Amino acid sequence: MAQLWGGRFTKETDKLVYNFNASISFDQKFYRQDIRGSKAHVQMLAKQGILTEEERDSIIEGLDGILKDVEEGKLLITSEYEDIHSFVEANLIERIGDAGKKLHTGRSRNDQVALDMKLYVRDEIDELDKELKKLLEALLKIMEENVHTYMPGFTHLQKAQPVTLAHHVGAYFEMFKRDRGRLFDIRKRMNTCPLGAGALAGTTYPLDREYTAELLGFDGPTKNSMDSVSDRDYVIELLSALSAIMMHLSRFSEEIILWNSNEYRFVEIDDAYSTGSSIMPQKKNPDIAELVRGKTGRVYGALMSILTTMKGIPLAYNKDMQEDKELTFDAIDTTKGCIALFTGMISTMEFCKDNMEASAKNGFTNATDAADYLVNHGVPFRDAHGIVGQLVLTCIEKGISLDELPLSEYQAISPVFEEDIYDAISMSTCVEKRMTLGAPGPNVMETVIQENKTYLEEE
Ligand code: ARG
Repeated sequence: MAQLWGGRFTKETDKLVYNFNASISFDQKFYRQDIRGSKAHVQMLAKQGILTEEERDSIIEGLDGILKDVEEGKLLITSEYEDIHSFVEANLIERIGDAGKKLHTGRSRNDQVALDMKLYVRDEIDELDKELKKLLEALLKIMEENVHTYMPGFTHLQKAQPVTLAHHVGAYFEMFKRDRGRLFDIRKRMNTCPLGAGALAGTTYPLDREYTAELLGFDGPTKNSMDSVSDRDYVIELLSALSAIMMHLSRFSEEIILWNSNEYRFVEIDDAYSTGSSIMPQKKNPDIAELVRGKTGRVYGALMSILTTMKGIPLAYNKDMQEDKELTFDAIDTTKGCIALFTGMISTMEFCKDNMEASAKNGFTNATDAADYLVNHGVPFRDAHGIVGQLVLTCIEKGISLDELPLSEYQAISPVFEEDIYDAISMSTCVEKRMTLGAPGPNVMETVIQENKTYLEEE
C-alpha cells in the first residue's frame, strides 16, 4: 500500500478502506495525460526558478522513462499504489531520487486530477470526432449513389410520401453533423487549464499558470481555483453529447432492424456483420444494430449518474468526484466502438432498391400528388383532399394502386382528371418535383450533397 500522505497517521489504513478508496484500477487509463501534465508543471517550476534546470531535466528524463517502460510493458501499473498520481511519483523517486520528491511542489492531486481528466476528455473528443467523420463519409457515399433510389417516407410508421434513400440517409447526416458540432463546442468551452489551482485556494509559489496552460495546448488558465478543482461540467456536457450520438445511432439501428426484417426486405446486412441462431438454422440476425440500440441505455445511465453525483457536492473538491471516471471512460469507449461498428455495418450493407421502390408504389404514397394535380387545375385543396380520399377507398376495395385505377373511375369522381394524371402521380414525378431546399428532389439533393462534401473536406 503506497500512499502519499502517511505523515499524520499512526495507524495503517484498513485493507477494505484502502481498496474502497483507491482509484488505480481505473485512473491508470490516463497515465499518459498524468505524465504529460507533470512534465509541463516542472518546466514551469524551473522557468520560475522554483526548481533548478538540473532538477527539471532529471525529472523529465525520469517521467519519460516511466512512460516508455509502461508503454513497452516493462513497468506494470499495479494496485500497490492508491492512484495513478502516486504510481508516477513513487516510481519517479525510485528512479531519480530526491529530485523526484520535488515534482509535487505547488500542486495538489485535486488540480492534478482535474487536469488529467480534462486532457483525457480533450484527447478523446478528438478521437470521437475522427470516428464521426468516417461515419459521415460513409453516409455521404450512400447518398451520392442513391439520389434516384425511391423508397417510402413514413410518418407514424405508415407510408406517407415517396422519398429517396439519399434523402433518408441525409437526415442522419444532419444529425451526426450536429453531433460533431456539439463536441467541437464542448472542446472549445472546456479548454482552460486548472493546474495551479492547488487543493482549492491556489498556492503561495510564484507559478506562471499562463505558461503551463500554453505548454499543454489550453487557451489559458481557469479563473477561479475553487471552481477549477470542482468543475465537472465538461464531463456532463460530453456525456450529454455522447447520449445524443447514441440516440441517433439507436434510431438508425432501429430502422435497419426493421429494414432487414422479412416484412420489409429493404436491406441485406453483410454476413460479416450478422450473427446466426444456435437453434434456428435459417436465422441471420441484426445483432450489431441491436447491441448499438441496447448500449444507448448504458451511455444515458452514465449521464444520469454523473448529474446525480454532482448535485449535492459543496465546494470545493470532494471524493465523490472520483466517481466521474469509470462511467466516463465506459461511455467514451462504448460510443467510439458503436460508431466504428455502425460505420462498418452500413458500408457493407446491401440496399434492395427494387423492394424499396415497390414498397413506395403500393402504399398510396402518391395520394398527395393526386390532390396537388387537382389543385393545379383549380380545385380548392380541401375538396381535392376529399376527392382523392374517395379514390383511395375505391382502390382499397379493388386491391389496386392509384396508378392502376382506370381513367373512367377517376373521371366518375371528378371530371377534372385527364390522361396526364398517370404521369403526375408516377414515382419519378412525385420525387423529382419536390425541389424545395431540403426535399428529396434530385437537383436540390445534389446541392446538399455538394455542400456536405465541402464541409467534410474543410474539417
Ligand atoms: N483519485 C482522486 C480522484 O479521482 C484524485 C484526487 C484525490 N484528491 C484527494 N484530495 N483525495 O478524484
